Amino acid sequence: MIVYFNNRFIPKEEVKISPDDRGFLFADGVYEVIRSYDGKLFRVEDHLNRLERSLRELRIKGPDTKNFKTIADKLIQDNHMGNGDAALYIQITRGAATPRKHVFPDKETPPTVYAYAYPFQSPHEEWKKGIKVILVPDIRWTRCDIKSVGLLPNAMACQQARENGAGEAVFVRDGVITEGSHTNFCAIFDKELVTYPKSNYILAGITRKVVSEICRELNIPVREFPIFEKDIEKADECMVLGTTTEVMPVVQVNDHIVGDGKPGPLTMKLQQAFRERVT
Ligand code: PDD
Repeated sequence: MIVYFNNRFIPKEEVKISPDDRGFLFADGVYEVIRSYDGKLFRVEDHLNRLERSLRELRIKGPDTKNFKTIADKLIQDNHMGNGDAALYIQITRGAATPRKHVFPDKETPPTVYAYAYPFQSPHEEWKKGIKVILVPDIRWTRCDIKSVGLLPNAMACQQARENGAGEAVFVRDGVITEGSHTNFCAIFDKELVTYPKSNYILAGITRKVVSEICRELNIPVREFPIFEKDIEKADECMVLGTTTEVMPVVQVNDHIVGDGKPGPLTMKLQQAFRERVT
């Protein structure tokens, strides 16, 4: 596999990352995951704008993010994924500096930049049936708007979901549902889509943005408003949204069965409309 590493396209085996890298020592880095459908990157500008913002918020001097469009296309073509479904991962860290110190390294320290493409199959089977989610305490920091590689609470929550037979863990902060471990959460109440407001407590998901656009086109009202955990049983439908899940129906929250236990009609309508945009 050919990957991109610090300005070069090289076999993955040849990548060498220093043990002094701040990504390794401090999770001092940011990332993006972008889908490619039939060789075409989906909403790449949105993803690169968000990457740019994450870098800016952490004051990491990364490369010009616009270059990733060409880099991504080359990775997809050179690894023969131009005719199928793939995903692209990009990570940028503040680079390697020794000795280990919390304070940022000198200005000249180059960032570490890594990107690779891999074949990715959409979860067609789960889309049809929907998934169960579990609610877990949101123990993350309060800058969840930054797509930082510091994902330990997310990984722990996702693992807990797996061990409970669920497909996703959804965080609850102060009694309010924020988002999933790697998705945004939405619920339908009286034909209105409700999702947590864009803020420092959630990642501004690109899928969430596209679904809002679709709702506008389909005249489905969207309300960015906190959903209290105690009110989730009143939801007619629930779903999680993300680059890797797209529009995923949620049919069970903890022990509560949502609606009749099948993916809801508005969720399926949004899922189909989303599919039409990518295929
Ligand atoms: N996760 N919230 C969190 C915490 C996420 O990590 C993600 C994406 C989302 C959805 O954002 P988007 O629609 O832009 O993918 C929401 C990626 C896919 C991941 O970590 O693998």
